Amino acid sequence: MKKILITGGAGFIGSHVVRRFVNNYPDVQIYNLDALTYAGNLENIRDIENAPNYVFVKGNITDTAFVDSLFSEHDFEGVINLAAESHVDRSITDPLIFVKTNVIGTMNLLNAAKDSWKGNYEGKRFYHVSTDEVYGTLGKEGLFTETTPYSPNSPYSASKAASDHFVRAYGETYGLPYIITNCSNNYGPYHFPEKLIPLFINNIINNKPLPVYGDGRYTRDWLFVEDHAAAIDLVYHNGKNHETYNIGGFNEWQNIDLVKLLCTKMDEKLGRESGESEKLITYVKDRPGHDLRYAIDASKINKELGWEPSVTFEQGLEKTIDWYLQNEEWLNSVTSGAYKEYYQKQYQ
Ligand code: NAD
Ligand code: TYD
Repeated sequence: MKKILITGGAGFIGSHVVRRFVNNYPDVQIYNLDALTYAGNLENIRDIENAPNYVFVKGNITDTAFVDSLFSEHDFEGVINLAAESHVDRSITDPLIFVKTNVIGTMNLLNAAKDSWKGNYEGKRFYHVSTDEVYGTLGKEGLFTETTPYSPNSPYSASKAASDHFVRAYGETYGLPYIITNCSNNYGPYHFPEKLIPLFINNIINNKPLPVYGDGRYTRDWLFVEDHAAAIDLVYHNGKNHETYNIGGFNEWQNIDLVKLLCTKMDEKLGRESGESEKLITYVKDRPGHDLRYAIDASKINKELGWEPSVTFEQGLEKTIDWYLQNEEWLNSVTSGAYKEYYQKQYQ
């Protein structure tokens, strides 16, 4: 049986990717390697844990000996690397862990893949999942394309940019067959409630303030997570080696407009009076180095591979809100313990 290693599969996006691969490719053994940090949760993939083509491996990609031994034990046809520290605010307070996981962890995977494949790259693929944040910030106009120069502004995006550079360098230097995709902001089920949309859904449910950074006029391009997972599936199977592809939702929102839409929808769902949740909006101190605007030109993946988002933002947001309302137990379990401490420090 062919084997694919997916890292970070107990996290938000990784769980959707693992589920998709396990269900779509019953003849391929899917290995999910995850350290189960605060962001990793086996509940995210409970529904597929007993599938015959699924194996969970608890381990840390920063552990060189462990990663090497995993690759010597298994002949992986491909690697899809999603394991990462992923939250900008945490990267501002603790940047070093971002270098360890995002840069050194990726290096360990690159070295292990290169050494185990021994230059025989037929049918092999190293797929690195990255972000549009590596491009830095846009002004009011323009879009990020695959040739936009890298200009990361946060420790998170700098660590992702560094890892992208190493992946590309392994392609140039050792001929490693790689693909990188740079995606815009995702949202959907199993999103850890430290990021804007799930944090605000949770706060609205609990009647807590909605901390909008700065003037709220920052713009992000939002993509439903299952559409990202579909893009990863397509690129893994049909993309060209040594290429990068931008993935985006064609869906730009200023934070404050998005938050107001979310408030309106939550009022409807919770049976609250119209305008009630909006009263929770509280403008707070801005994030340092806050990127003004991200927006993706996803025409390359659209033209070359035929990918496009399958749901509108309205539909995706509806599905997301419904999921959180139906999964309060999940929400309560991830917001107990260490989360409370994080929240206190971040929003004191
Ligand atoms: P996440 O924080 O929800 O999940 C990360 C997962 O990686 C967790 O399961 C965690 O336990 C695991 N992990 C962390 N450190 C590890 C380590 N050292 N060894 C093994 N596993 C480790 O992240 P996400 O939002 O699902 O993002 C996944 C990937 O997609 C990341 O590489 C991120 O940069 C990229 N990305 C995210 C977005 C987004 O909007 N969330 C957008 C574009 C790209
Ligand atoms: P986030 O979900 O952290 O994603 P990213 O920083 O990777 O884009 O934030 C999305 C936007 O929302 C960003 O402009 C910062 C803003 N934001 C707030 O205004 N308040 C918050 O509490 C958070 C977490 C984010």
